[in-house]
Amino acid sequence: MSEKEKVVQVKNLRVSFTTDAGILKAVRGVSFDLYKGETLCIVGESGSGKSVTCKGIMGILANNSIVEGGQIIYEGEDLLKISEADFHRIRGNKIGMIFQDPLSSLNPIMKIGKQITEAMLINNDKLKNRYNDIISAELTAYKNAKVIKSQAIMQKQNENDDIIYHLNKELKEKQAKGAGEDEISALKENIAETKKKLAKELAQIKKEATLKYKESLPKLKAALKAKKAIAKKEVKEYEAKIRTTRNQKIKEAKVELSRATDPETKKACRNKIKDAKLEYQNLTKITKAEAKRRALEVMKEVGIPQPEKRYNQYPFQFSGGMRQRIVIAIALTAAPDVLICDEPTTALDVTIQAQILELINKLKVERNLSCIFITHDLGVVANMADRVAVMYAGKIVEYGTDIDIFYNPKHPYTWALLASIPDLDSSEKLDAIPGTPPNLVYPPIGDAFAARSKYAMAIDFKYQPPLFKVSDTHYAATWLLHKDAPKVEMPKIVSARIKRDLEKEEERRNEQAI
Ligand SMILES: Nc1ncnc2c1ncn2[C@@H]1O[C@H](COP(=O)(O)OP(=O)(O)OP(=O)(O)O)[C@@H](O)[C@H]1O
Ligand SMILES: [Mg+2]
Repeated sequence: MSEKEKVVQVKNLRVSFTTDAGILKAVRGVSFDLYKGETLCIVGESGSGKSVTCKGIMGILANNSIVEGGQIIYEGEDLLKISEADFHRIRGNKIGMIFQDPLSSLNPIMKIGKQITEAMLINNDKLKNRYNDIISAELTAYKNAKVIKSQAIMQKQNENDDIIYHLNKELKEKQAKGAGEDEISALKENIAETKKKLAKELAQIKKEATLKYKESLPKLKAALKAKKAIAKKEVKEYEAKIRTTRNQKIKEAKVELSRATDPETKKACRNKIKDAKLEYQNLTKITKAEAKRRALEVMKEVGIPQPEKRYNQYPFQFSGGMRQRIVIAIALTAAPDVLICDEPTTALDVTIQAQILELINKLKVERNLSCIFITHDLGVVANMADRVAVMYAGKIVEYGTDIDIFYNPKHPYTWALLASIPDLDSSEKLDAIPGTPPNLVYPPIGDAFAARSKYAMAIDFKYQPPLFKVSDTHYAATWLLHKDAPKVEMPKIVSARIKRDLEKEEERRNEQAI
């Protein structure tokens, strides 16, 4: 079997947020591969870190976020390390994203056509891209200075939070065990002193980091300013050069045209003039007429009837499903390799949802797109996925092909998700997942799902399970897969459904064979 091409590789991605309650660890070491032409579904309950993972790939995380580590490899480069200008070139162009609520990504007071062409016209200002490329190293250094400052402070804050958390935990445990008053008050005193000490240390680090930042800033600013001047000059000269070439070619063709007598030569001359103009346009930016032509084409591709008429309408004149099609059209104008869809159908009713899913599947095949599809609905996963990543509390707990996950699930959380899908064929009651996800400011030490799982063992509360290999395509992070673990069966409701599905599949095959 030939190796499939990996389009995006996410390796050990860790993203946190500063919040009033402390540092929230939203994504805690996520790794997955996206293969060419495949759809990877990321599924999990609300708050498990699905959107944050994808926003990390797109580079559109909120201001209070911090990428604590990891790599996102695309076309051989780490998107977390490349220059700002390169990142802009990739984001929105090569990697597009569509969101849950189409209204929030459309401007309500701008005509649909303009919104589609605007995306094209912004992304296709080639002279501006050239300028950005030239200044990218200096711009990155300038912006990084601030990041380095906040990283140092965040790291210390993180350490402090951890120390205090563990001291408080020890205190609570001692209190619960009925420790003596002396011991308790000594511990309390220790906590108060440690807090003071840590606050002092943090203040010191803040002071040092801020000072360093302030010292480095003027130099970085000056370097950026100097580079901007160079870039401006270079781009201006480049534009002048291609303009001169164009004018020269047009002039020559016009002279030839004035001398020409036969219609063939005249036509050739006119074409030369057209070509020269087009060549210049292609080197600088796309024209409005060209953008409109491409917008109408892509509107047709996503199934908008009467695109010419629709082009001049406003978002409110479109239904929810049609609006989502427009959002998809906008993402497609840049001809991306990768399309990230974050719950694109949850706001739509069931029939429309099915049509949009069908459209995404069609585009995937026709454009050889690779998709990351986020959903909390396993029914949708079944229709879309080639591979599935099941996320819980900021980690991937199970990862495999659609067949692995639906027919041979291994993690108790995947079982719980499967048990909660409504099944039209049986009268069984749904098993809602008991309890709530953990607080990610203080993530549990072992298997994060243990507190809600009736299959949890003592070790689950102590140690994080590694990703055990089930097969070449299938991995699951549960201690149940350890060779010494007791053998447990998945819940009856899940195994019964798998059996029914397999029987149905068998019947279908037999019918086809007849
Ligand atoms: N800007 C932010 N500041 C603080 N916490 C945040 C921020 N953005 C996300 N989070 C937290 O990060 C965690 C993961 O959020 P994320 O949006 O990725 O969840 P999700 O899996 O997409 O859930 P949903 O299905 O509800 O969309 C949550 O606990 C969330 O509250
Ligand atoms: Mg989300």
